[in-house]
Parts: sequence; C-alpha cells; structure tokens
Amino acid sequence: MDLSTRYLGLTLKNPLVVSASPLGLDIGNIRKLEDHGAAAIVLPSIFQEDIENEIEEIERLAVEGNSEALSYFPSGLADNVGPGNYLNLIRRARAAVDMPVIASLNGTSRDGWIDYARQIQEAGASALELNVYFLPTDLTLSGDEVEARYVDILSAVKREVSIPVAMKLSPFFSSVGNMVQRLDAAGADGFVLFNRFYQPDIDLEDLALVRDLKLSNRGEIRLPLLWIAALAGKVKGSIAASSGVQSSAEVMKYLFVGADVVMTTSALMRHGIDYMKTLHDGLVADLNVREVQSLAEIRGRMSRAAIGGQTAYDRVNYIRILRGGQLQG
Ligand SMILES: Cc1cc2nc3c(=O)[nH]c(=O)nc-3n(C[C@H](O)[C@H](O)[C@H](O)COP(=O)(O)O)c2cc1C
Repeated sequence: MDLSTRYLGLTLKNPLVVSASPLGLDIGNIRKLEDHGAAAIVLPSIFQEDIENEIEEIERLAVEGNSEALSYFPSGLADNVGPGNYLNLIRRARAAVDMPVIASLNGTSRDGWIDYARQIQEAGASALELNVYFLPTDLTLSGDEVEARYVDILSAVKREVSIPVAMKLSPFFSSVGNMVQRLDAAGADGFVLFNRFYQPDIDLEDLALVRDLKLSNRGEIRLPLLWIAALAGKVKGSIAASSGVQSSAEVMKYLFVGADVVMTTSALMRHGIDYMKTLHDGLVADLNVREVQSLAEIRGRMSRAAIGGQTAYDRVNYIRILRGGQLQG
C-alpha cells in the first residue's frame, strides 16, 4: 500500500504529522515519534516576543557599550534565551531523524523579528509554519486591516526564506475560504486548518481568569472538515488538517474531504507517544478494509466539489437538519 503524500512540496512517507506542541522539545520524543510512524513533525512555536526580547537585550548591551558583556555573546546570551536554543533544537532534530522537521514561528506583526525566519532556514528546518496568533481585541481594527496583516507577514517571511511556508490559521475570518485563497495567491505553500485559540474561563470562586488549555475531542474535526471540504482542489498550496484527531477514523475523514496531511497533538499528549503507532496501524487497517492501494484513491472524494456541495455542505442541509430534528446528545 502506498501511503505517501506531498505536503509543502515535500514527499512524506504517510499523512501523519505531529503538530506543534511541547512533545517536540525532546529529541528522544522526536525519534520515537518517527519510529512509531510519524512522517514529519512541527516543532513548538518560537514566539515573536521571545525573539524581540533577545534583540532588545543585544541592543541594550550595545547601547551600554559594555564590550565585556558583548564578548560573551552569543554563548552567554544564547544559552539562556529562547531563540538560540530554538535554532539548536532545529539542528539537533534534523540530525536525529530522517523525517522533515518543520519549525513554527508565532508572531503578530511584521517588524523587527522577521529575519529570524532566515536563521530558522539556515539551522536546517525543512519548512516553516507561520502561526499569526492575533486576537483583534482592538475594536477599531476592521476585518480588512486584520486580513492585510496576515498577508503582510506572510509576504515579509517569504522574502526572507526559500523553504516552504505554511500558514496556520484560525477559522475566525468573515470569509475564511477567501482569506485562504488570498494567502495562496500571496505565495503560501500550505495551510494548517485550524489553529485553536486559547479561550479563557472564569473561576467563580476566586473570581479569576482560568488559564488552562484543554486537549481536543473528536467533535472538533467538524469545522476544519467543512472548510477543507470547501477548499480542496481550490488552492495551489497543500492542506493540513489540525484539530480533533483521536483515532484513525478522524484521519480517514480528513483525507476523504481532501487533506494532504493530518496533524495530531492532543491524542499523543493524552495517550502517550506510542499512540502514534496506534494511529498509523489504524490508518493502514482502515485503508485495507476499503481495499485502497494509495491515498490518492480516497483523497478529496468527499470534498464539496466532488459530492456537489449545494446539497451536502451548504445552507440547504442546515435548514433540513433544523427542520428534521436530527439531534444527538
Ligand atoms: C500543550 C499544547 C501546546 C501547543 N503548542 C503549540 C505551539 O507552540 N504552536 C502552535 O502553533 N500550536 C500549538 N498547539 C496547538 C496544536 O499544534 C494543535 O493545532 C491543536 O492542539 C489542535 O490539534 P489537536 O486536536 O490534535 O490537539 C499546542 C497545543 C497543545 C495542546
């Protein structure tokens, strides 16, 4: 059976990719994930704030004219501050495994830190995932301005690097499909659909914000499923499904609607790294049952274009469901 797929112009042995998470901070984990079937890994994000802090620190030392302190750079600084360590992580990960290692850069504006993308490339990253985690809580910002920010950041990063760049997006655009197409036209090599925004809760006892991160559940595949189905075949860039994978069934569903790769974090954090093998073997078994010889046979067969979206994916179906009362739970 041929499980191979293409993602960001890279050939992967199968569609299972580890999404950005702390699992990728440990080289032992990364090796084990590859041994258990992962075809690529996205390292945890380095944040604009980490990079700017280092830049500020360098500028502070320079302004103070403290040549002794400067002479310790980079070792004195890089040993303790994020960005240097991150580049080392990329180098060590690349040396440890054969699968592609994708770095993740997380920022919200175009200034001051974009050249770090070039350093990521020089450190050997196979590709770069760009996560513009931007919450437009400034209520004067229009949707146009928010969207322009994404395109600006992508264009600036693309000018810095020649490795492929994927955009990890949230679904919170007024026209998410159009946003993806705009980024596609601006040169994005792929899309990770979707990012999960951190959403706070309130502790009523202490009247304080609860800052925890919930692992996903399988119901969360539905929103990405809808949009991947709509976008399959409509963009040049490749499509990674992200959110809600708990078993090979979700992987199959994502492939059927047109994903090129399927990413997972929560399932691995919940069940342990060995669970990658369960996902992998489950996928092979599911494909065997359907007598599928290669992923191309199923990919996109349930996309909006393939099955006639008007009735299946769009408004008509919504009305039918509301009237027909197909409720669960
Ligand atoms: C503990 C944890 C840390 C994460 N760190 C990052 C990160 O650094 N960068 C990023 O883009 N996404 C990060 N994510 C999001 C995941 O990459 C993924 O998009 C999300 O968890 C949805 O996929 P899942 O349902 O398979 O977990 C993190 C998720 C978790 C649970």
